[in-house]
Amino acid sequence: MVAKVQIAIDGPAGSGKSTVARLVAKELCYRYVDTGAWYRAVTLIALRQGINFDNQPALNRLAKTMLLEVKTKGDGWPLYLLAGKDISAALRSPQVDDKVSQVAKIITVRDQVSEKLRAIGNQKGVVMDGRDIGTVVLPDAEVKVFLTADLATRAKRRKRELESRGFSLPLSAVKEEICQRDEKDSSREVAPLMPAADAYIIDTTNLTVDEVVASIVALVRGME
Ligand code: CDP
Repeated sequence: MVAKVQIAIDGPAGSGKSTVARLVAKELCYRYVDTGAWYRAVTLIALRQGINFDNQPALNRLAKTMLLEVKTKGDGWPLYLLAGKDISAALRSPQVDDKVSQVAKIITVRDQVSEKLRAIGNQKGVVMDGRDIGTVVLPDAEVKVFLTADLATRAKRRKRELESRGFSLPLSAVKEEICQRDEKDSSREVAPLMPAADAYIIDTTNLTVDEVVASIVALVRGME
């Protein structure tokens, strides 16, 4: 039997990470883990409880105590439950987009989340997507990929995704939001968004989803 490996997929907003990571996981019969969901869940609870985003101890407490339950649907997309309620759509709302980088820059929050993610990743046979998977969460992952795409393409993809969830925003607003989030994620002191030294960088601007998935699966097969 072929030994399962860890696959780390990082990249900026709208680079196609989650779509690609889910399909790679499906093809290889691996588990798909969308790590952004953990930072988004802390952000969502903070918004619902009216916690100030400068209140780092309170946000850290949330990250520590939050019981985020993850199930996988038939199509491979994860379903996120908090206290038994499906919060999957709320996690990807524009309100959460707007605040999540403020939560994700807090070192103590990152430590809590990374610890939970490592426990999952260490089981191997996992595809994890995020910002610091190849650099911090799974630095020994056998396959590391950094997905990019030009800003116009990423904004169009993100707008389409938001529309599919019932949120309609002008393209200019979507572009502005992802620009600001990328800037915050890339410039933070802890675990900034950047490719690992040994990551394969794939520019997905002119590639189909299937082409990107096939090239990552080929990398994995090449290791077998
Ligand atoms: O899907 P998209 O790329 O837009 O975002 P996401 O993967 O859901 O991540 C949302 C936010 O969480 C990012 O903008 C980062 O601020 C943070 N994040 C992080 O800091 N580290 C990760 N491993 C994953 C997400």
